[in-house]
Amino acid sequence: MSEIGLTNDPARMRHGSNIGQPMTRREGVLKVTGAATFAADNHPPGMLYAVPATATVARGRLVSMDEAAARAHPGVVDVMTTANRPKLAMDPDAKTNPFMFRLDLLQNEHVRYAGQPIAVVIAETLEAATEGARLLKPRFEAEAARVTLDDAESFVPEVVGAGNPAEAAIGDVEAGIGEAALVVDTTYETPAQYHNAMEPHGVVARWEGDKLILDMPTQALAMAQQRLAGLFGIAPTDIYIRSPYLGGGFGSKGFPAGPQVLGIMAARMTGRPVKLVLRRDQMYGPVGHRGPTRQHIRVGLQSDGALTAIENRTRTASSTFDDFFEPAADVAHTLYAAPAIRTAHEGVRLDTGTPLFMRAPGEASGSIALECAIDEAAEAAGMDPLAFRLKNYAEREPISGKPFSSKALRTCYEEGARRFGWAGRPSEPRSMRDTSGRLLGWGMGTATFPALMFQAKARATLRADGSGLLETGAHDMGQGAWTALAQIAADAVGLPIERVEFRAGTSDLPDAGIAGGSGHTATAGMALHSAGQAVIAKLAEIATADEASPLFGAGNIGTLARDGRLVRRDDESRGEAFGAILSRAGLETIEADGQAAADPTAQETYAMHAHGAVFAEVSVDPDLGQIRVTRLVGAFAAGRVINPRMVQSQLYGGMIWGLSFALHEHAVMDRRTGRVMNADLAEYRIPVNADVPPMEAILVHEDDPHVNALGIKGVGEIGITGTGGAIANAVRHATGRRIRRFPIGLADLV
Ligand code: MOS
Repeated sequence: MSEIGLTNDPARMRHGSNIGQPMTRREGVLKVTGAATFAADNHPPGMLYAVPATATVARGRLVSMDEAAARAHPGVVDVMTTANRPKLAMDPDAKTNPFMFRLDLLQNEHVRYAGQPIAVVIAETLEAATEGARLLKPRFEAEAARVTLDDAESFVPEVVGAGNPAEAAIGDVEAGIGEAALVVDTTYETPAQYHNAMEPHGVVARWEGDKLILDMPTQALAMAQQRLAGLFGIAPTDIYIRSPYLGGGFGSKGFPAGPQVLGIMAARMTGRPVKLVLRRDQMYGPVGHRGPTRQHIRVGLQSDGALTAIENRTRTASSTFDDFFEPAADVAHTLYAAPAIRTAHEGVRLDTGTPLFMRAPGEASGSIALECAIDEAAEAAGMDPLAFRLKNYAEREPISGKPFSSKALRTCYEEGARRFGWAGRPSEPRSMRDTSGRLLGWGMGTATFPALMFQAKARATLRADGSGLLETGAHDMGQGAWTALAQIAADAVGLPIERVEFRAGTSDLPDAGIAGGSGHTATAGMALHSAGQAVIAKLAEIATADEASPLFGAGNIGTLARDGRLVRRDDESRGEAFGAILSRAGLETIEADGQAAADPTAQETYAMHAHGAVFAEVSVDPDLGQIRVTRLVGAFAAGRVINPRMVQSQLYGGMIWGLSFALHEHAVMDRRTGRVMNADLAEYRIPVNADVPPMEAILVHEDDPHVNALGIKGVGEIGITGTGGAIANAVRHATGRRIRRFPIGLADLV
């Protein structure tokens, strides 16, 4: 990507290893000066604007609309409807794998959720397209909509998430509950939430014959190519996607969303480049959300606090036409050493868009409920919440019996508690006040997220001028991939980072897999690492066979790449520069491919998770019920830290989302219209700076020899887990009130 000039920051680099250094974002200056081009910043010549018109009912049928009025509006070029939309090579409702989500591409007049696109107006200007869409004034035949967990009959889905079994168990939960001295039997509710990435979903689409050129934010370039190739009946390689930056994705940009495909269809229909960018209110429907949950949790205890059983039976929702269910119960598989564990999900089908992966899908909603239930259990046992968790510390993964590949959770508990000052916590609720008389409360929660790895490829090139080029189609959705992956890339070829050109973000590069599941750094990083090692091995082969090289004959001893030089493993002072080796061999460049995938044997043998402990302080106005989080301390162990600055930012972001989960965020459904009533950033409450207290994210050292050769576990999602529960438990400690429906608000406390 020649148009993406990334700056390096050699001043911050210590000699030798880039991994572990707190580099600032390499694209940071471009972003803060507005020079970084996001998808919607592109304006190819002749470009038209497309604006979808959307359903205002949640269930029913489009009866009519005033297409003539829209077409008569000056500047309107075309109106795409069910009648004239371009033919697709594949039914948008077909599904050949669990990650192929059904899309609304004007296939018929049926409305299956409010906000579903029902036509697209294409015009010379955004204003004309917007006005054209308004003039359509669609009329609907509406049926009663089902939009909450109580509106529909439940059933047992086959799978939840992207394919986890809906039920899992070890031991005998009924026996465990039966023999328990104490049983906590409790129900927690979490609301529907919407991703609300700062950058709305959009696309700038251009056809050149049967080749498609897209500026489109995506968390998975190759998967997007595949999906679009299927829909349009062209080869994946005929689709070129640029996605250098994303203004957040959080799972909702894992797959092309319906409206993005509509933009591409509009370009095909008009024969001109088309830009389609959703308005904020249009993001509440067709681009995914986190489904609501109702979690019935039972915890059995012996009188000394030892767990006898944990059960989570979750009711959650999917759409009427697809099958993603929030796997909220599953977090109970991992955390606490109960001899019997049972998790089960039941689903209901609602007239909403299909829920989708949303940052820590399942873990976020499951963790806030489980951590509160564990707090209830500790209280029932008369134990300190931390002592209770230590009493039930899992030395092996409870559901599988496997040892953990690494688990520094004890150190997280210790470090977090020490920094927070947890030791002095009085056990009685309502026993602490600040100097202004506000009630103070302290709560904690355990954080956990699986250490996942997917498949990826990368390419490494060394040049005779002593520089390197490392390439993989990675995605930076704000998490710092451009930076962390470049650090791995530079170390992989033993070059100072300023001599490495790192290319990512376009679909012509080797497939870097998905930026999701907190696995991108491990996955794309391991591909870069492997490509780097492969190219260095090639270089070593040339040098050790070359009589003119000081490395001649060192093949058995082995060589190392150090600061642009290949040196003998047994004597690092003997070696020569990469460029010298290549030049003597008459080579301008040397190149090698690398790939990464999870190691099936290690996966089979070990349970792999990141862990953490979060401690929260809240202050509550005793008269008004106003809650403020006044301190948040998290300690996290997630394997090797590539860039502590980026990792801390990820953890802060996650913890703020946990705060949001506990106290702010929810979609308010109108049961009469089936619409989200707060479909904007003013009323869909997320924390602003004034809501966010001083935070600490402590990085606990953890060596993991099993997850991958670099020991990386991933940090994108774990920060949400633990935090929500810690805050809710702190509210309980402050007020004596146990609120079991999120978000917790003023009205719950007065
Ligand atoms: Mo994430 S929900 O894995 O993008």
